[in-house]
Amino acid sequence: MKAVVLVGGQGSRLRPITYDVPKAMVPLRNRPFIDFMVEFLRAGGLEGAVLSLGYLPDPIQEYFGGRDLHGFSIDYAVEDQALGTAGGIKNAEDYLDGGPIVVVNGDVLSGMDLRVAIERHKESDSLATIVLISVEDPTAYGLVEVDHDMLVHRFLEKPAADEVTTNLVNAGIYVLEPEVLEMIPAGRESSIEREIFPYLQAEGRLRAYVSSSYWKDIGTPRSYLTASQDVLSGVVGAGKDFDFLQVAESAEIGKGVKVLPPVSVAPGCILESGATVGGRSSLGRGCRIGANAVVEGSVLFDGAEIEPGAVVRGSIIGPGARVGHDAIVRGLSVLGARCVVGEGNILDQGVRINPGVVLPPGSMSF
Ligand code: GDD
Ligand code: MG
Repeated sequence: MKAVVLVGGQGSRLRPITYDVPKAMVPLRNRPFIDFMVEFLRAGGLEGAVLSLGYLPDPIQEYFGGRDLHGFSIDYAVEDQALGTAGGIKNAEDYLDGGPIVVVNGDVLSGMDLRVAIERHKESDSLATIVLISVEDPTAYGLVEVDHDMLVHRFLEKPAADEVTTNLVNAGIYVLEPEVLEMIPAGRESSIEREIFPYLQAEGRLRAYVSSSYWKDIGTPRSYLTASQDVLSGVVGAGKDFDFLQVAESAEIGKGVKVLPPVSVAPGCILESGATVGGRSSLGRGCRIGANAVVEGSVLFDGAEIEPGAVVRGSIIGPGARVGHDAIVRGLSVLGARCVVGEGNILDQGVRINPGVVLPPGSMSF
């Protein structure tokens, strides 16, 4: 059995990071997210995946090019124009064998055992089985009402607050019979959540399976940062020999530097004297942390630079971005690729700075 992984979306809620890096390639503990997806599918007994690509496909294809996945196959179905979550599945049809398939939203990090959901699906007469998870606020998800034997009564994508009747939502993980692919129109945009699932529900052929395992959609700065911290802490995705203190040998660590686990420091990083890299941070390749600078609970993409005395807390620093002397970046702020936060700026409250933007010294303060 193969999976179709939907990785063609623009990742607009994770901008400005996703202007340069597709959501599937954002790092968790210095491994691209898609790696966790492949591991999840392989652990679920699947033999391969078709990546349904659209927006920024090249970095994903380059990543897998020349990689040995030990028998797990990867194919690419690339869209010329966005086909949506159903169209993206249809577009992958040529790489499938005509049997049942698993479909996964390419931005969900899950610790569940996929094999159980596949088994449940096979035992039923449904055309599709949706994995559900319980969340506090269903309004950002697909709300799913089920009856006592897990038949779906209602599928409501992105319910308004006054439409919320349950905490159970679509986890973005499905098992589909081949008949479902036949229902999807070819060559045009369509949504599995808004078109196909409501139709299957009305036909009484849509079932659900509730998972209580770890689950997170990494599609917003808050959830991505939480997922990063969870992976660093070994809450999810921890293989054997998990090391809370993952510091590359080639990293240069100066005098009096504190590196507090759980942490990941990629090769080529330079941590200058007195710097603190606090718990639950991950530093991509070739990052520089200046003297006495502090980084805590943050993700730094490759080549990010934090100048002496600067403080970065609970934020996301894009590739090659620079935080100037004594500047403060905190509160879920997100810096796009190559942008520069000049000396003494204070960024807080989820500020997002677009790629390449240069903030002159002291120009921004909260
Ligand atoms: N190939 C392709 N083409 N993929 C797409 C397209 C497209 O046009 N549009 C979106 N995708 C991919 C995204 O890259 C993402 O991996 C996945 O489809 C879901 O899109 P999101 O934009 O992340 O959707 P969402 O998070 O708002 O909602 C979806 O996921 C929730 C769970 O996280 C829905 O499926 C909800 O019902 C669900 O609860
Ligand atoms: Mg999503």
